[in-house]
Amino acid sequence: MERMLYTATPDGTVNFTLRKTLVIAAAALAALLLPSAWAQSTPVALTPPMGWNSWNHFAEKIDDATVRKQADAMVSSGMRDAGYVYVNIDDTWEAGRDAKGEIQSNSKFPDMKALADYVHSKGLKLGIYSSPGPKTCAGYEGSYGHEEQDAGTYAKWGIDYLKYDLCSFDEIMKKAGSPEAAHKLMLDAYTKMHNAIVKTGRPMVFSLCQYGADHVWEWGASVGGNLWRTTDDISDRYGSMSLIGFQQAGLARFAGPGHWNDPDMLEVGNGKMKPDEYRTHMALWALLAAPLLAGNDLTTMSPETIAILTNREVVAINQDKLGKQGDRVWAEGSQEIWLRELEGGAKAVGIFNRFDWPQVIHVDWAKLRLKNSGKARDIWAGKDLGTLPANYAAQVPGHGVVLLRITE
Ligand code: GLA
Repeated sequence: MERMLYTATPDGTVNFTLRKTLVIAAAALAALLLPSAWAQSTPVALTPPMGWNSWNHFAEKIDDATVRKQADAMVSSGMRDAGYVYVNIDDTWEAGRDAKGEIQSNSKFPDMKALADYVHSKGLKLGIYSSPGPKTCAGYEGSYGHEEQDAGTYAKWGIDYLKYDLCSFDEIMKKAGSPEAAHKLMLDAYTKMHNAIVKTGRPMVFSLCQYGADHVWEWGASVGGNLWRTTDDISDRYGSMSLIGFQQAGLARFAGPGHWNDPDMLEVGNGKMKPDEYRTHMALWALLAAPLLAGNDLTTMSPETIAILTNREVVAINQDKLGKQGDRVWAEGSQEIWLRELEGGAKAVGIFNRFDWPQVIHVDWAKLRLKNSGKARDIWAGKDLGTLPANYAAQVPGHGVVLLRITE
């Protein structure tokens, strides 16, 4: 989906990339000074949210029956037991509003409360989607002017997660008159919905989606975001996934328990990437402490897809309690090494080959700021490797990764 990232023009269209650093500094200061009253009473997303979202595979072809089947499959496939919890309905569930302005679900979702009850009965949680604008990205009813009412409705239905997608709110921002004013409008819009959620008293994960505009990582937490998309939409192609994933370098310091960078949902199992590419996707998202929201059809998964999504050791890296996002520590051409510090002094190391044929990648531990390899385990191979040589030669498949967990 095309969307504008705003260029300054004489007619008042704003330019986000030229906004004043002053605005960012003010937002950062606000984040530091935020009263605790802004926080939800029950902390949510202390580790990156895990679950499933309807958009990547089903887009507008999503309905009540399909969501129930996904919930069933999340349980029967073992995904729930591996940590996947949220079943998130994305765009296209919305109808208009009734005479009192209350949002209605359309005929694809005849009874949202009953659906939430069903999902909860499986030990799972239900997520929903809206926009601060009058219309969602797919042209359905947004929450503009109805924020408190909508949050109240979601709470009444038993919703546990809201993805709030900028979409048509950009039209309102374009009329703001200046980049600073537009930026403030956006922050106010996200804050308004956050406050509305807090007011309901129901814990809900608040997921910001505005494609990474305006350095959202610098202020996402200050408007109550538990996660914020850092990029435009992912697609089921190595080019898209790897561009988005490797472009997260440098964002680690903005993430932590309760507030995460979100490089978009998973494409694992959607069929357009090779298994090694999906292993790269999953390993990179684990190192990035990224939300793990499966975006495939959970009812038709191959054993290999299930194995990739539910690998306990990869999930454990993603869900590590320290909540420290990993970062790139070394790169030369198509070879990259990323490292994530884990609880108790362990480390996860991803040795990535961005070429599409196999390469040997030499790992110099000193360059990773490590004395030696410690005790290494190859996670995708499920093998303990012991102490590795000073100049370890990792054999990495094309577009693949060797993912190590190393302990002293
Ligand atoms: C935007 C978002 C996607 C999805 C669609 C739905 O493109 O970035 O993740 O929610 O809207 O219309």
